[in-house]
Amino acid sequence: MMRLAVNIDHVATVRQARRAREPEPVTAAALAELAGADGITVHLRGDRRHMQDRDLRMLRDVVSTRLNVEMAATDEMMTIASSLKPDQVTLVPEEPGEVTTTGGLDVSANQTAISAAVRRLQDAGIPASLFIDADPDQISLAGPTGATAIEINTGPYADAPASRRAGEIVKIQQAARQARTDGLEVLGGHGLTYVNVGLVAAIPEIVELNIGHSIISRAVLVGLERAVREMIMLVR
Ligand code: PXP
Repeated sequence: MMRLAVNIDHVATVRQARRAREPEPVTAAALAELAGADGITVHLRGDRRHMQDRDLRMLRDVVSTRLNVEMAATDEMMTIASSLKPDQVTLVPEEPGEVTTTGGLDVSANQTAISAAVRRLQDAGIPASLFIDADPDQISLAGPTGATAIEINTGPYADAPASRRAGEIVKIQQAARQARTDGLEVLGGHGLTYVNVGLVAAIPEIVELNIGHSIISRAVLVGLERAVREMIMLVR
């Protein structure tokens, strides 16, 4: 059965917008798990735009499914991962000023740095996954880094106009088959929504999807009515 890991970064985005105490990402993680999520994913960015180091420490204590931490392959992040010991680290590219991750890792251009980061994670007993585009050349380089899994970037499929969507899904299907043949566990994520997730969820080689923005966006809307009713009770 397909696993769902819920990315709760945007709970922290709302909190950091006011530098406030709420909403608390740890509570969101517990609620996602109560609803049946198979894992919790967070991205610790170099600029600490949403998740903070203290969030990761608390999540490590509280998450009872699997904690997957996305991070850049930097010395700082590998040091944090080695002491935090999440259940998995997903290495992602990080560009200063980007709104969100804009593409998969360029494994070809960064083979030495990525392999070194994977080795540091392995030495700490942490399996590594690489966030990677559905590109056969990049996929073929994933296994040799020592990574045991890849997360295929579904962003280009999610962003494609209707006329190009079928072509993008074929690329993901082929990438998933290639990675599975190479012995890698295959995950997917980025830009998936309630509307577009079906075709990706139907790919048999993909065992887990990482979804954040769409779930948190929906939570804001389906939860707003109750939140307003509760405040009306207090003010009247
Ligand atoms: N996978 C990776 C590597 C990501 O960087 C992100 C965004 O943080 C996601 C999955 C989740 O993407 P979205 O928020 O669009 O569902």
